[in-house]
Amino acid sequence: MKISVVVKSITDFKGDAIILNIFEGTKSPGGATGAVDKLLGGLISRLIADREVKGRVGEVTVLHECPKLTVRKVILVGLGKKKDLNNEIVRRAAGIAVKKAREINARRVGTIVHGSDIGSLDPARATQSLVEGTCLALYDFNAYRKPANGQRINEFIIVEKDPSKAKKLSNAVVIGQTLADAQNAARDLINEPANILTPEKMQKRIQMLIENWGIQKVVKCQCLDRAALRKMGMGALLAVGQGSSHVPRFIVLRMTNADKPLVGLIGKTVTFDSGGLSIKQSSGMGAMKTDMAGGAVVTGVTLALAKLDSKVNLLTIIPAVENMPSGSAYRPGDVIRAMNGKTIEIVNTDAEGRLTLADSLVYAESKKAEIIIDIATLTGGCVVALGEKIAGLMGNDRALSDKLIEVSELAGEKFWTLPLYEGYLNKLKSDVADLKNSGGRYASAITAGLFLKAFVEKAKWLHIDVAGTELTDKESDYTPAGATGFGVRTIYEFLSTL
Ligand code: BES
Ligand code: MN
Ligand code: ZN
Repeated sequence: MKISVVVKSITDFKGDAIILNIFEGTKSPGGATGAVDKLLGGLISRLIADREVKGRVGEVTVLHECPKLTVRKVILVGLGKKKDLNNEIVRRAAGIAVKKAREINARRVGTIVHGSDIGSLDPARATQSLVEGTCLALYDFNAYRKPANGQRINEFIIVEKDPSKAKKLSNAVVIGQTLADAQNAARDLINEPANILTPEKMQKRIQMLIENWGIQKVVKCQCLDRAALRKMGMGALLAVGQGSSHVPRFIVLRMTNADKPLVGLIGKTVTFDSGGLSIKQSSGMGAMKTDMAGGAVVTGVTLALAKLDSKVNLLTIIPAVENMPSGSAYRPGDVIRAMNGKTIEIVNTDAEGRLTLADSLVYAESKKAEIIIDIATLTGGCVVALGEKIAGLMGNDRALSDKLIEVSELAGEKFWTLPLYEGYLNKLKSDVADLKNSGGRYASAITAGLFLKAFVEKAKWLHIDVAGTELTDKESDYTPAGATGFGVRTIYEFLSTL
């Protein structure tokens, strides 16, 4: 879909439909909506008086046959109360409106920027959110069937009457569209079934993305195979992958800006998590094709940073393995050795993600990463604690986690810190090894975090548990059912303002 900015009055826009907004509690609309209301002979004001239009978030109304306008339809989307307006509401309203435009077969759609004129939002930020909500809402995973939602919108045009704002808005369009494309690329990887997206295929897909995005000059891709991993002593990662007929791939993406501190960005990439010999129950096991969401998200973040020319010194690590039961699988009771020499007693082969991350953390520090962020669909305990909308955040540096939470609000993603309480370290104590790989059911998100912490020496480190937030069975305003790609926008924002 082509997205552009034109300088004119929305009342002069020619196309199939225009998108306008209305705040809750407005009696007679002002701004662009007010101008259109006048041309419509006060139709919008009458609908408000009739309480047919209330302006609540989630509300969308289509006005038909507007003889004084050069479009046939007007889509009126609610923004809620003026005092509650923020960028996330703009994202949601944009998603709701554009889905309605698609439903009514509009091909060329004009919109105003919600919240920047009468609302109090920064115009560039509001435009970015508008574009993000629009592009994220239209996402459809249709690799294996016909598109579910009929016609495509060809042109999406942001109509701004103030020429002094146009340049700023055009830049914001590029940022918003790039971030949405990056998040949608992550969604594509996550939605792909595990029979197709093996570790090797993950590597191929990432290399293809780097080429298609035209960033080969900026992002260098290196892959370590099983033999190379053995040489480096990555016994934890190798143990997880040893039961699968698909060999592991340790994928490393490098973006060099040598004057900046090196940031390690690690995403859990278990292409399928059957649980291994500690096999999962069969109901819901299919969802474990999304256990590589962390790797997909860090791929998306890397694409966006490169495309938008961020000056970050980045080491992205995607340790891709499949966790399967077989005659060669690792077993409960096994003792394995991680890259830093620490020994681990396996008590549950389903606690596999932390093993792949342990070696990745050690690798990142061996490459001199000073800041490390890992993101992982790590524990069912995190889903129980925080549900489907909030990710768990842990780490060893309070200032860094505060900063991430601060920027997450702009991105419209929710995080909550869980304590890495040292008093729970005894849960990971083993009689035969330095530590065991599971601390049991209680506080399992925290004990998983404590396990990871044992593999970080000097770096400032953040751990994000997205077990609850990467997959949704219900469509919402700008998120179709399936993979969400949660985390791309926040981590991008965090790293680009570091
Ligand atoms: N990939 C799962 C965690 C998960 C659960 C992700 C639900 C998404 C939705 C992880 O590898 C796992 O199996 N964790 C176990 C750990 C336990 C064995 C200590 C869990 O949380 O049950
Ligand atoms: Mn598991
Ligand atoms: Zn897992």
